[in-house]
Amino acid sequence: MIAQGDRRTVFSIMFILEESGEMARRVVVAGATGLIGRHLCAYLHERGNEVIALVRNVEKAKRQILTATAYVHWQPSEHSAWAESLDGADALVNLAGASIFGKRWDAAYKNEIRDSRVVSTRVLFSALIAARRKPAVFINGSAIGYYGPRDATPLDEQSPPGNDFLAQVGVAWEQEALEAEELGIRTVLLRTGIVLDHDDGALPKMMLPFQLLSGGPILPGNQWLSWIHIADEIGLIALALDDERVTGPLNATAPEPQTNRDFMATLGRVMGRPSWLPTPGFGLHLLLGEVADLLVQGQRVLPRKAQSYDYQFRYPTAEAALRDLLVH
Ligand SMILES: NC(=O)c1ccc[n+]([C@@H]2O[C@H](COP(=O)([O-])OP(=O)(O)OC[C@H]3O[C@@H](n4cnc5c(N)ncnc54)[C@H](OP(=O)(O)O)[C@@H]3O)[C@@H](O)[C@H]2O)c1
Repeated sequence: MIAQGDRRTVFSIMFILEESGEMARRVVVAGATGLIGRHLCAYLHERGNEVIALVRNVEKAKRQILTATAYVHWQPSEHSAWAESLDGADALVNLAGASIFGKRWDAAYKNEIRDSRVVSTRVLFSALIAARRKPAVFINGSAIGYYGPRDATPLDEQSPPGNDFLAQVGVAWEQEALEAEELGIRTVLLRTGIVLDHDDGALPKMMLPFQLLSGGPILPGNQWLSWIHIADEIGLIALALDDERVTGPLNATAPEPQTNRDFMATLGRVMGRPSWLPTPGFGLHLLLGEVADLLVQGQRVLPRKAQSYDYQFRYPTAEAALRDLLVH
């Protein structure tokens, strides 16, 4: 059975089915109940894969995703019985991690942000070691936060990491994942930008001021915003699953990032609302604390590797992505 929200996703990503090559059959997804995980499960289900969802709360997960074949309770901090679900699986996708914008960052929440990624990846690796028949491919969620705050210099997969908190988390997270290469498992580090989805994630929050007729750029306005439509995020995960050439870091961002000022102007235009009231960075800092840096600073990330594999973005521009999500 496919839920209404899942069905919308399936329709929007049907094109991927036509383009995907040989398919992994049994796919284990950790963090399956999240924004990306829910769309991924719906897509994998639709194309006939067996989806094993590793979740912290099975009953809740059954309400959130209707498209998994099996729901396995796991503790992301501990290797225990759940690890057997990786034995004989064809692919593992790890999307688990405490929300970056979930709470104001204090020392305890920063630890949770880091451990929910680094430690969970480490226990998944120990489960991969234990698996008698190991998955052929491991796709580990990562983020463009790996590159740290930057100016307008274009960044690709070869660019060095930054050194702020999220960059340090990204480096440690990717190092844990790369251990899987030692097991002969093709490992992909999916460096995701800001995912645009109609119902969840950043976009509904960005829309709110526009709905109140008080939308505008976050100052200084010239910071870059590297985004991706959810359908292309799933398209790139499909590419990583199915195409054996894909290995190592893979930027999951659209080919045409925009400055914050331009992106907000596009959003206002698509919503038919003015983009006129700037939000000062210091105001966001007072409201949100350290996490506000992510909005006030940015980075201009390009999907060079995806393009080198000839991945065709369905939504290369913010205008096209926002029109699809908000107008159709
Ligand atoms: N969405 C974006 O714009 C974006 C951008 C860049 C990077 N990413 C990264 O991509 C990954 C997936 O993104 P998403 O947007 O789908 O995330 P999400 O909606 O926040 O969901 C992440 C999932 O991780 C699990 N989780 C939450 N807290 C956890 C904890 N403390 N320990 C272990 N697992 C925990 C939850 O699954 P269960 O409750 O089922 O266990 C949750 O559904 C994340 O690592 C995220 O940082 C996302």
